[in-house]
Amino acid sequence: MKLRTVCSALWAASLAAANPISRKESNATASVSSYSQTASIADAASTTDTIFSVPQGRYGALFKPKVMVVNMYYKEEDAWIRNLDLMHNISVPLLSPEYPYVHSNDNFTIMSVTTGEGEINAATTIAALCMSPLLDLTETYFLISGIGGGSPQHTTIGSVTFAKYAVQVGLQYQIDSREIPANWTYGYVNFKTSQPNVYPATVYGTEIFELNENLMNRAMHLASNVTLQNGTTGNVSFRQRYNASMAAYGAPKLVACDTATSDVYWSGEILEHAMSDFVTTISNKTATYCSTQQEDNASLESFLRAAKHGLVDYNRIVLTRGISDFDRAPNGLNATEFFFGGKNLQGGATATFTNLYLAGLPFVQDVVANWDTLYKENNFMPKNYIGDYFETLGGVKNFGL
Ligand SMILES: *[C@@H]1O[C@H](CO)[C@@H](O)[C@H](O)[C@H]1NC(C)=O
Ligand SMILES: *[C@@H]1O[C@H](CO)[C@@H](O)[C@H](O)[C@H]1NC(C)=O
Ligand SMILES: *[C@@H]1O[C@H](CO)[C@@H](O)[C@H](O)[C@H]1NC(C)=O
Ligand SMILES: *[C@@H]1O[C@H](CO)[C@@H](O)[C@H](O)[C@H]1NC(C)=O
Ligand SMILES: *[C@@H]1O[C@H](CO)[C@@H](O)[C@H](O)[C@H]1NC(C)=O
Ligand SMILES: *[C@@H]1O[C@H](CO)[C@@H](O)[C@H](O)[C@H]1NC(C)=O
Ligand SMILES: *[C@@H]1O[C@H](CO)[C@@H](O)[C@H](O)[C@H]1NC(C)=O
Ligand SMILES: *[C@@H]1O[C@H](CO)[C@@H](O)[C@H](O)[C@H]1NC(C)=O
Ligand SMILES: *[C@@H]1O[C@H](CO)[C@@H](O)[C@H](O)[C@H]1NC(C)=O
Ligand SMILES: *[C@@H]1O[C@H](CO)[C@@H](O)[C@H](O)[C@H]1NC(C)=O
Ligand SMILES: *[C@@H]1O[C@H](CO)[C@@H](O)[C@H](O)[C@H]1NC(C)=O
Repeated sequence: MKLRTVCSALWAASLAAANPISRKESNATASVSSYSQTASIADAASTTDTIFSVPQGRYGALFKPKVMVVNMYYKEEDAWIRNLDLMHNISVPLLSPEYPYVHSNDNFTIMSVTTGEGEINAATTIAALCMSPLLDLTETYFLISGIGGGSPQHTTIGSVTFAKYAVQVGLQYQIDSREIPANWTYGYVNFKTSQPNVYPATVYGTEIFELNENLMNRAMHLASNVTLQNGTTGNVSFRQRYNASMAAYGAPKLVACDTATSDVYWSGEILEHAMSDFVTTISNKTATYCSTQQEDNASLESFLRAAKHGLVDYNRIVLTRGISDFDRAPNGLNATEFFFGGKNLQGGATATFTNLYLAGLPFVQDVVANWDTLYKENNFMPKNYIGDYFETLGGVKNFGL
């Protein structure tokens, strides 16, 4: 469908028309906390800004999807686009050149976007998506659905994890481990501190994000009857190279546990130790590291900024990561043998793409089926703090100094 032409014509027309947005001068009446609870279109940039309010949602927007699936690359988007018949490609400026379209089903209730891989692609695409005048995302639920490395302590290949916290582990100092003091276990040191694993004395604000746990529990509950695929017999026997006491050994499961974001695709026990220490420290022991990926904190920072300005509702984000491989070697293999020893030691992604779809679908269907009764007004408002380190959306965080 040639939406691009239609859209740009309508957009141009809407810009040319007299601006019907109701305009209210306000000096200091908008309290920031109200923006975290509601999805009103109001700009909270500062309390002295002019406030614009649009009763029918975003002015000029053509689409108001109920659910938007967020994938990171083509292997993740495939199951969603194919199975849900997301046949309409909507061109949105500033998406990744590799993934220039939002994909939509026939009645524009369910859509998907693909960010491209890594933190820069994720942040840019989500910011562009949230700012697009074509889309009103004020009531949209977002399901982040991608693969990641997994901790054998908590997950196995094929598991699907649901995260409350996302931690950006790349925001640290690093000294090569060949040059570190003998009593350090790794070469990572938090900002403005001088030895490993001390709470950072300065933060950039994207180190940690907390999401709506109530909505996460709803999505997990809806998926609880799903039969996850085990993958090949090779996948099953590879799991059993890990100790029988570890989650890695058994069948894939749904797991509630937290995710670490890093552009550097790290592997091995020593870096796992450094990264999971960072997650524990920055969250003041409230987050449990179990998966590693390259985008989520970036996407969440963009969503957070959009939520601050009423463009999306931060209460409506669910973060799932399927485990495609392990973050460290099983017994009897060293880190490089494991990591570079061939795809057969690393891969488990095929079953994981399917499992991410199987585990996310009940939530997507539930949102559409029960929109009027449960989701339009969010019946699953959080009981936990949501937002970032700086308390940008209001509330009081349960981690950090
Ligand atoms: C905003 O503040 C200015 C200067 O203090 C004042 O003149 C104006 O009436 C105020 N506007 C509103 C809507 O309160
Ligand atoms: C629409 O997007 C899909 C998935 O990215 C792609 O395979 C297809 O070629 C696109 N269609 C058009 C007409 O560009
Ligand atoms: C829109 O399509 C979905 C399937 O893609 C269906 O479940 C839903 O009921 C439809 N909604 C409306 C309002 O037609
Ligand atoms: C990244 O996301 C994880 C959980 O999804 C969160 O725990 C972490 O704080 C986030 N980090 C940044 C820098 O946003
Ligand atoms: C390492 O040893 C130095 C010097 O003895 C000491 O000051 C420091 O606290 C030790 N660091 C750790 C992480 O144990
Ligand atoms: C799971 O299956 C049981 C038995 O069929 C059913 O009673 C229950 O409602 C199902 N739960 C969900 C969340 O679909
Ligand atoms: C797994 O079991 C082996 C053999 O008993 C043991 O040497 C190793 O420390 C165990 N690893 C973990 C992570 O528990
Ligand atoms: C996966 O393997 C477990 C045993 O590890 C078994 O209980 C389960 O039925 C298998 N699932 C499928 C879909 O084959
Ligand atoms: C890892 O194992 C391989 C194969 O046994 C060996 O060649 C390599 O030197 C080992 N690497 C380390 C760092 O031990
Ligand atoms: C898991 O199965 C896939 C085929 O789906 C295969 O490519 C991969 O090597 C297997 N992984 C392991 C660790 O055995
Ligand atoms: C961690 O939480 C405890 C309460 O559980 C609090 O006393 C402490 O100050 C917190 N520390 C940091 C660094 O947030």
